[in-house]
Amino acid sequence: MTIALGLGLGTKNSTGDWLETFYPKPLYQPDAALVEQVRAALGLASGNSTLELNNEQLDKLAQLSSQASGIAELAASFQNSKRPAVIVIIESDETATSTPEVYLKLHLLSHRLVKPHGISLDGIFGLLPNVAWTNKGPIDLNELPEQQLQARLNGEWLEIKSVDKFPQMTDYVSPSGVRIADAARVRLGAYIGEGTTIMHEGFVNFNAGTEGTSMIEGRISAGVMVGKGSDLGGGCSTMGTLSGGGNIVIAVGENSLIGANAGIGIPLGNRCTVESGLYITAGTKVAVFDNDNNPVETLKARDLANKDDLLFRRNSSNGQVECLTNKTAVELNEALHANN
Ligand SMILES: CC(C)(COP(=O)(O)OP(=O)(O)OC[C@H]1O[C@@H](n2cnc3c(N)ncnc32)[C@H](O)[C@@H]1OP(=O)(O)O)[C@@H](O)C(=O)NCCC(=O)NCCS
Repeated sequence: MTIALGLGLGTKNSTGDWLETFYPKPLYQPDAALVEQVRAALGLASGNSTLELNNEQLDKLAQLSSQASGIAELAASFQNSKRPAVIVIIESDETATSTPEVYLKLHLLSHRLVKPHGISLDGIFGLLPNVAWTNKGPIDLNELPEQQLQARLNGEWLEIKSVDKFPQMTDYVSPSGVRIADAARVRLGAYIGEGTTIMHEGFVNFNAGTEGTSMIEGRISAGVMVGKGSDLGGGCSTMGTLSGGGNIVIAVGENSLIGANAGIGIPLGNRCTVESGLYITAGTKVAVFDNDNNPVETLKARDLANKDDLLFRRNSSNGQVECLTNKTAVELNEALHANN
């Protein structure tokens, strides 16, 4: 089965390299008949394909039958676009070979069509150019000084929102039922579950996010998924695996709380709490207590990975990191999420 099909509009630099691509309606697991129609109309062989479309090819797509899942309408609307059109078909989950293909994968994640880790993102950094994201759209860094001058000559102002390989998600996708206080803090490729609130201090990287209702005031690193009903306190950290971190993929279960300025280097289970300010790394030695608060054993935090109902704290009298039974799981403030 075909994994995805996207008809998008992109931006190229002056030497014809793609900088980015926007897909208004990416299709996940599109109908086989539709894919056949599209391939036949464009003369595309099977396999993963990226094809820039001219007006004649857009016209052929615009003639497709109405069951073509909106592709015909989209192609018709692209015909007089000032930006180049492109079609990407992902047949097999392999390393991407084009910038538009990577952008389609990032769209699938942010449209909640694919969960983090659900599609290969191998090799994406080599295909994502570092771009100046401006109020006039994406600009190649080599062309930026000229464009800045040109803007001033025209009596205009070019505002640079960021210089990055990833754009902010909301310039491409704004998922339903979500509040994002500072849009720059969520990268395209984030998966933000319905009911999530991301406060100004919250951050969500690509291939990471929340399953459902969550309060995010801390950082969700690449690859990290947060379960429903969990709360990431102000400035807290989840350890990523991209650079400098370990290779354990971190996750947070349901109804868990990572306190303000705390951090985790192990996956947490359900109904766990990490005390404000405590950073648990995989090798942290943890004194484990039973239900009656009697010391039982000392373990490394990695041995407690994914276990439910744990409360981690640093004993303020002796500095020892302790793990107790968590008797009060977090309850999110209903009123904060009711109006997303
Ligand atoms: C760890 C934490 C959950 C404990 O809170 P709690 O379960 O309400 O516990 P309490 O503060 O009522 O303390 C219970 C007992 O444990 C003791 N205790 C609490 N933290 C302790 C610590 N670090 N070391 C030693 N004893 C501690 C208390 O003194 C109290 O002792 P007592 O029974 O003798 O009175 C809480 O301190 C915390 O860090 N919450 C995170 C909140 C947060 O950051 N939210 C996000 C906001 S952005």
